[in-house]
Amino acid sequence: MQPDTPNAAAPAGTAEPARARTGARAPTAPGRLPLVGHAPRLQRDALRFVRELRHHGPVTKIRIGPRPVHVVNSAELVREVLTVQARAFDKGAMFDALRVPLGDGLITAAGDRHLRHRRMMQPAFHHDRIGRYARVMSERALARSGAWASGTTVDLVPEIHRLTLDILLRTLFAEPQDPELHPAVKDWLSVKYHSMRLALSPLHAWAERLPLLPGWRPPDAGPLRRLVAVQRRIIGTYRADGRDRGDLLSMLLLAGGREGALSDTEVTDELITLFLAGTGTVSASLAWALHEVSRRPDVQRGIHDELDTVLGGSPPGFGHLPALTFTRQVLTEVLRLHPPSWLLMRRAVRPVVLGGVPLSPGAEVFFSPYALHHDPQPYGNPDRFDPERWPRDAAAKAPRHAYLPFGAGSRLCLGEDFAWTELTLALAAFLAHRRVTPDDSAPVRPLVGTVLRPDRLLLTAHARKP
Ligand code: HEM
Repeated sequence: MQPDTPNAAAPAGTAEPARARTGARAPTAPGRLPLVGHAPRLQRDALRFVRELRHHGPVTKIRIGPRPVHVVNSAELVREVLTVQARAFDKGAMFDALRVPLGDGLITAAGDRHLRHRRMMQPAFHHDRIGRYARVMSERALARSGAWASGTTVDLVPEIHRLTLDILLRTLFAEPQDPELHPAVKDWLSVKYHSMRLALSPLHAWAERLPLLPGWRPPDAGPLRRLVAVQRRIIGTYRADGRDRGDLLSMLLLAGGREGALSDTEVTDELITLFLAGTGTVSASLAWALHEVSRRPDVQRGIHDELDTVLGGSPPGFGHLPALTFTRQVLTEVLRLHPPSWLLMRRAVRPVVLGGVPLSPGAEVFFSPYALHHDPQPYGNPDRFDPERWPRDAAAKAPRHAYLPFGAGSRLCLGEDFAWTELTLALAAFLAHRRVTPDDSAPVRPLVGTVLRPDRLLLTAHARKP
């Protein structure tokens, strides 16, 4: 089965009909409690909550503590937000809060700053350039998966997280690396999760008012300062000889042209953004992929057959990617069923009408790729893991706005190509010489945080000969 064009019968959602019905009020989702609003529902069972909102209309109002939020539930209206009316929105209050722990990199930047940085960073993520990073991805994935002995059961969640961090560090900074880099990144990661949780928590609006509540105190700023200091030292070394070392950092430093080069502060902000954007998302996806494949021997057999034919025993590489069509289909379905960025947000910066609902500047808008990906129209039997729902030779040509693992429009994930490459090569490295089976004594549960990931993933490896 292939997905239909998303919701073809739905109202077009263009600015014209929207204006015609201006003045409609979005219905408030049921279950609102005094003071806390819908926050307990989001805390308790966020995935179910966002899925059910579509039953109340294409735009629904919820309250998260004191904060009103409009949730957009139709693919067509999400398209409005991300493309047609994209200039009417910035990323919103939670991203303003993220500037403190993360700096003003691409993820948080707005307006002209965003445009300039995006233009300057794009060459670092050009497809040809990713070919260079692919060697590192394959080598590191083979090294880590090679340490997983046959017959042993391992929780792959921390293993995969270490792998994706390792890959990112080695693609950002060519070797030899500054010896203080790894410890500085590790220290920063330990406080980063706390900073992100605070900034992105739906209860942030309240936390700001009650900053001394236990668990809501600002994190120690020391690790970020130390990481920035190490990065500046590395940048100094690179600037001194101006050489392209084949890594991402060289590209960020060489970027420029008419707009002038990025300053050291801008580069450190972008490096931190990339640590943030490029690790948790990829590790969650790879973990979900191995989870799904471990439970579907037929799908695993399909991948093994493909790897045997395409790789013929050699390590997976960039040149193999176009032929790994079934592996790509599997990953496409994994990102549908378990999109790491399960909830995205925007804020109106000028008056705007969405599906007939007028929004004033400052209005917060949420939409959930997870909810869109579980809409039975266009995804029949949406909870079923079914790689065959994607066309074999065009897995990437998914219906654009009913399939949003990487977002869309001017804020489309800059690392999309990087991520597909890393995921495909890493999955190939893990499966080429082994079969994996689940440990059913430890059920896998989704952990709904800033990314959607499995809480743990106990899998057993079995040797196989290609
Ligand atoms: C499976 C892995 C990944 C997923 C699911 C993912 C998802 C996303 C999504 C949904 C957005 C858009 C957010 C929004 O519209 O609010 C985004 C933005 C971004 N991602 Fe990714 N991402 C992944 C991997 C990566 C990697 C590997 C990198 C870099 C190494 C990266 C760098 C970025 C950057 C820089 C942005 C901001 C783009 C902008 O605002 O212009 N991502 N990502």
